[in-house]
Amino acid sequence: MTLKERYNDWYAKHGAQFKAVSPKYDVVYTVSKENPIVFEDSANVLLSAAIIADTHLPNREKAEINLNNVFVDLENSPEKFDAFLMAGDIVDYGTKNEYKRFFRPLDNQKKVSKLLVTLGNHDARFFYKQNSKIVMNKVDEYLGIKTNGKSYYSYDINGYTFIIMCTEKAVLEKAYISDEQIAFIDKELARGTKDGKPVFVMCHQPFANMHGLPEVWETGDLGEQNDRVRAVMEKYKNVFFINGHLHGGIYKNVQDTVNEENGVYSISIPGYRKPNNFGIQDCGVGYFMEVYADRIVFRARKFITGEYITGEYTRLEYKLK
Ligand SMILES: [Fe+2]
Repeated sequence: MTLKERYNDWYAKHGAQFKAVSPKYDVVYTVSKENPIVFEDSANVLLSAAIIADTHLPNREKAEINLNNVFVDLENSPEKFDAFLMAGDIVDYGTKNEYKRFFRPLDNQKKVSKLLVTLGNHDARFFYKQNSKIVMNKVDEYLGIKTNGKSYYSYDINGYTFIIMCTEKAVLEKAYISDEQIAFIDKELARGTKDGKPVFVMCHQPFANMHGLPEVWETGDLGEQNDRVRAVMEKYKNVFFINGHLHGGIYKNVQDTVNEENGVYSISIPGYRKPNNFGIQDCGVGYFMEVYADRIVFRARKFITGEYITGEYTRLEYKLK
């Protein structure tokens, strides 16, 4: 079966359902300046980041405007943002025009110094080769590195290491993580944690049995290499695993513990473009992160309208070990 046939086959089976859960395309949100992002202790922040997931961009102008709202909101903040993270499912169907829509706001923004992105299953499932090239060329451009045909990488910001994982072949839902990538994660975690600093790992898919899995989505986990990747992450102290994919919203399952003793935690970022499944279900929501010498704080933000969100699990604090 050709890719096109696979796609048509999938669309015949799931297209109607897929359209039904898609958001109302005509809504364009505006960003309020009334409550800009202010850090809890701005003078002592060592690293900051805005994090979103699952932008699922269609080739529509209004969706691009709504994505750009993240940067409008960050621009309105008096704070300095070191990084922007997008945890995969950049676009919806995997076409080149959708990527143009996604990357234009990132290209044009001037607020955040480093942009870190990864592919999700929507990016990889039909056109993995084409799309990993599009995305990784942008990674090279944004970070000034050479990923040399690999879809995973690491990058240090303010002395903190970010490890960006990614599937290495077309997958419908789960990821394929090679032995080489697992060894790379291990090596980079060892390097990044050697002086006691936390390390941030990002992957689109979460670990099995976390964030309400498998009940919330029977096949929504990382896949075959799940246990091996998890075992590597559990060896190190203060590891923060940032993922998307579940569109869970903000509720009790937004964060989970991978290894309590070592301070390894997983955070499931809500989906940006579509309403989420549980708790606070608003679209356009992500978290921003403030890293201090002894603790890390994640706070929920409705970037799409420039508003804070209050309620349970909208502020997560971790004391470093
Ligand atoms: Fe996904």
